[in-house]
Amino acid sequence: MSIDTPTLVPQSAAGAVPAGAALDLIRTQPYTDWAPAVAAETRATLRRELEQGAVLYFPNLHFPFQSGEERFLDSRWSDGKSKNINLRADDRAVRGATGSEKDLADLYALIRRYAESSESLIHALFPEYIPHMTRAGTSLRPSQIAGRPVSWRKDDTRLHVDSFPSNPMLGKRLLRVFHNIDPAEPRVWRVGEPFGDFAKHFVPKTHGMWPGQAWLMKQLHITKRTRSEYDHRMLQLHDLAKADLDYQKTVPQQEFRFPPGSTWIVFSDQLLHAAMRGRAMMEQTIYLDPQAISDHTHSPEAVLTRMLGRPMLAA
Ligand code: SIN
Ligand code: FE
Repeated sequence: MSIDTPTLVPQSAAGAVPAGAALDLIRTQPYTDWAPAVAAETRATLRRELEQGAVLYFPNLHFPFQSGEERFLDSRWSDGKSKNINLRADDRAVRGATGSEKDLADLYALIRRYAESSESLIHALFPEYIPHMTRAGTSLRPSQIAGRPVSWRKDDTRLHVDSFPSNPMLGKRLLRVFHNIDPAEPRVWRVGEPFGDFAKHFVPKTHGMWPGQAWLMKQLHITKRTRSEYDHRMLQLHDLAKADLDYQKTVPQQEFRFPPGSTWIVFSDQLLHAAMRGRAMMEQTIYLDPQAISDHTHSPEAVLTRMLGRPMLAA
């Protein structure tokens, strides 16, 4: 399926999607500024769409390089061990990169500026989130993603929702701001059916934790904190989706090409997504307390709680 598909069915991100149907999950926005003035009514619409699982897409929201920064569009800055160059919030050390002291300082300035721009965008669009948000990692991903030799579990060209084995979220939401910083190549994504439909497909194949399992994983430093049932189920959903090649092919989905210089925002723990091609991207992760969400109908934790008939975050 491509964006040229002539008959995209207009589709609320919330509703069930018939097999084989095309989706239309991209909501295009006019803003050109990282701190736009947005009317309250528009903000409410954007928030509803985002929380329902749509992609907020800003084709004209550019993140310009400052002089000399174009040199970072090259995988030679990666240290070869990690796939991304990362900056943790409140850290001054860029991780996963090699270069001279000056290069690393310039790289820090670039990534830090992206973190600040992303944060100001979220502040401007969703002021209600401000008391509930925490800046997490910022990354520069300067390598082509197509054709990379990775295990199926790490293969982000397969549709998945984000979930991390060692970093239990305990219900905190993953809000991400992406920017295609490559001057020439689009970043090609696939996005898939609403979380509720995805969950219906795979939750029956997931299982709970053994008594003591969460405690033991924490003791053995497999997890940074005690894993909740929510995290345990989300991780299985991530793996089950990636392992099922038939599902990957047949699930209702949409391909979208984010052009150079464009920006997009998603809840990546909710939206089924896959990154197929693309050379250089920047990404900001924000953790959001669940109480920030105004419409819980579609949040993964609410969907799992409803399906399994008990709270997912109990100790
Ligand atoms: C992902 O979040 O799965 C990857 C996104 C990307 O690299 O474009
Ligand atoms: Fe992902």
